[in-house]
Amino acid sequence: MSGIEVPVAGGRRPQGVLIAASVLDSDLAALGDEIRRAEDAGADRIHLDVMDGHFVPNITFGWTMIAAVRRVTTLPFDAHLMISEPGRWADKFLDAGCDSITFHVEVDEPQIRPALERIREAGVSAGLSVRPKTPLAALDAYRDLLDIVLVMTVEPGFGGQSFQGDVADTKLGAARAWLDPMGACEVQVDGGGKAATAEQIGRGGTDVIVAGSALYRAPDMTAEVARIRAIADAARVATLAPRP
Ligand code: DX5
Ligand code: ZN
Repeated sequence: MSGIEVPVAGGRRPQGVLIAASVLDSDLAALGDEIRRAEDAGADRIHLDVMDGHFVPNITFGWTMIAAVRRVTTLPFDAHLMISEPGRWADKFLDAGCDSITFHVEVDEPQIRPALERIREAGVSAGLSVRPKTPLAALDAYRDLLDIVLVMTVEPGFGGQSFQGDVADTKLGAARAWLDPMGACEVQVDGGGKAATAEQIGRGGTDVIVAGSALYRAPDMTAEVARIRAIADAARVATLAPRP
């Protein structure tokens, strides 16, 4: 077995580092095939970056596209909503078949708690994401409702950006420590995930690495998934192992 035994209350945290393939940088003309390619390469989840041109300066796709490709794989669909009104549209993403839905804590505050509650009521994992400059303390009021904390290590909006290592150093271990009392919540890292950054990400105790350009631009995606996972796993085990 790879990874480690992580003592958790709800048992939902993965034992080894999981790889979520972001399709943002894939050939969107063949999205179904690109999702299958990630599945065949050993990715654990499909990460779907939804952007509305308002919360971030880019527009990608919405729930109709997600619903259309839902049938091409049984891998979990992990939706990352970079939109201003997640509360307004949450039901659409639930209906589209997402297995987890994460949105940003920087959106207008009144919708945050109801949206998290709605997602959880539907039996779907609920998450909040923080931009690089947003402190983890912004999540404090929602801790009881979180299955996922997504730490952005690039400014949301575009794939292929450089990993902000200072953000990883500041936030990852802190997020893990902040969450441990409630056990099952997982920490995801999104932005610049690749072999060269996997050690630092794993060292932070991260549970899920989102990787887009590193996978879809790799000459051999299978080898790249395995390489990122192995490097991150080794670092994570060393970090989380009980000290003698
Ligand atoms: C950025 C997105 C990320 C990103 C990942 O707004 O949330 O998921 O596309 O792509 P890479 O791995 O290329 O940074
Ligand atoms: Zn993302």
